[in-house]
Amino acid sequence: MIHLIYISSATSWPSEQDLTELLEQARARNIRQNITGMLLYGNATYMQVLKGEEKDVHEIYSAIKIDPRNNGVVTLVEEEIAERDFPGWSMGFRNLTACSPEELPGFSDIFHRGFDKEAVIKNDGVAKKLLMNFATNV
Ligand SMILES: Cc1cc2nc3c(=O)[nH]c(=O)nc-3n(C[C@H](O)[C@H](O)[C@H](O)COP(=O)(O)O)c2cc1C
Repeated sequence: MIHLIYISSATSWPSEQDLTELLEQARARNIRQNITGMLLYGNATYMQVLKGEEKDVHEIYSAIKIDPRNNGVVTLVEEEIAERDFPGWSMGFRNLTACSPEELPGFSDIFHRGFDKEAVIKNDGVAKKLLMNFATNV
């Protein structure tokens, strides 16, 4: 089993409805392919962790990379894991648009101008920490 974390840019500002549709589609396929994880959205930026068998994770990641709803996909972490940290979640979700810096102590450098893709890419390790933070705070 592996987990893979990536960050990408939304190609247009998604509405609540766009996000809901994306999640419904993602969850339906994730259930079929036994994928779990967490998706964060904010400031036209997506960050996601996908967990599952290597083959399934790679298949879904290939679909995401060519999905016209996002571009500029950057892999941040890919490693083997012993067990899932998000059991039972076909895909958790947090919209960070209305998140205040006080809600995210320790992450001010990646949130001071809204969720900042370049700051996440530069700050090695912060992606995993942020996703874990939301895994335990929903
Ligand atoms: C930011 C983002 C995250 C996505 N996450 C997932 C996901 O977790 N699982 C998934 O199956 N598809 C996800 N998708 C959708 C895929 O790109 C693709 O549309 C979908 O897997 C096609 O599945 P279908 O053939 O069953 O319709 C995501 C797309 C975007 C833009």
